[in-house]
Amino acid sequence: MENKIQQLRQAAAEAIESATKNLKELDNVRVQFLGKKGELTTLLRGMSQLSAEDRPRIGKIVNEARAEIEKLLAEKNSELKAKELQNKLAAEKIDVTLPGRKIHQGHLHPLTLTLNRVKDIFIQMGYTVEEGPEVETDYFNFEALNLPKDHPARDMQDSFYITEEILLRTQTSPVQARTMQKNNSNAPIRMIAPGRVYRRDDYDASHSPMFTQVEGLVIDEKITFADLKGTLDFFCKKIFGDSAQIRLRPSFFPFTEPSTEVDVSCVMCKGEDEHCKVCHGSGWLEILGAGMVHPKVLEMSGYDSSKVSGFAFGLGIERIAMLTYGVDDMRLFFDNDIRFLEQF
Ligand code: PHE
Repeated sequence: MENKIQQLRQAAAEAIESATKNLKELDNVRVQFLGKKGELTTLLRGMSQLSAEDRPRIGKIVNEARAEIEKLLAEKNSELKAKELQNKLAAEKIDVTLPGRKIHQGHLHPLTLTLNRVKDIFIQMGYTVEEGPEVETDYFNFEALNLPKDHPARDMQDSFYITEEILLRTQTSPVQARTMQKNNSNAPIRMIAPGRVYRRDDYDASHSPMFTQVEGLVIDEKITFADLKGTLDFFCKKIFGDSAQIRLRPSFFPFTEPSTEVDVSCVMCKGEDEHCKVCHGSGWLEILGAGMVHPKVLEMSGYDSSKVSGFAFGLGIERIAMLTYGVDDMRLFFDNDIRFLEQF
């Protein structure tokens, strides 16, 4: 019996010693020796068969063995616990010196940024912002702008027709007529109308079948060509900087008389580089069309051309964005290549 206890003690000590994996493994050892059906427990039960004088002595040895095993278990237990904690800390370690992950925030499209700048300049001058439909009637897109059917100037803008009478607007000018017609006759107007327009153009570095215009219309008593010139000069200086100058060239639009095309001094070379890629050495860049509202256009929309006069202009947002950001291919604005867009 004594030997057996001694062996058990030894076996338990070895089992505890080699339980290095985890607490579960150690608990299995505890059950194996001290559990209800454990080896030491079974041994203890067999004590009833011992003689009366052997019992206290053996009992003492068993209790000692039990205490010893419990002590070893407790030691191993705290050793394993410490190890597990150590492992857990190592696994959950946070390297506070790692560089942070940047939040990728989007931003407005360069055309929207440009349009917002243009809008701000005119809103500052007291202009309202009007809107018109992109799917427009032939009447507003052409007829109300003094372009009757079969007028040769319709060819200036190749159109996408949906039916005989409905098309994708080729310009924002129809908003001129729409704004006049929704007003009381002869009521003063100072508005811009930004929006998309569509033409059957090729898609190349300087053309796109869809692009963005901003229309301008000012009507009141005694509005003159000088007002137009002053307004456009102010606008160009705001957009391109105080050194920007404008130049007016005679032109033709059926809805303005006289009509003009407006150039701005080259934003790249300021007219100083013969080989400038932007202005090709001319020193000037065409940026918009404008003129005094044709009396017929006023009359057709219920305004009295003997009482009021006005000016109108139309500019292209893509063109202005290309000039202000130094972009040489319009398609970049529509291709949506993130490497391009990220630069704004
Ligand atoms: N609508 C003209 C175009 O698209 C521009 C323009 C607008 C010209 C207003 C004169 C007045 O070419």
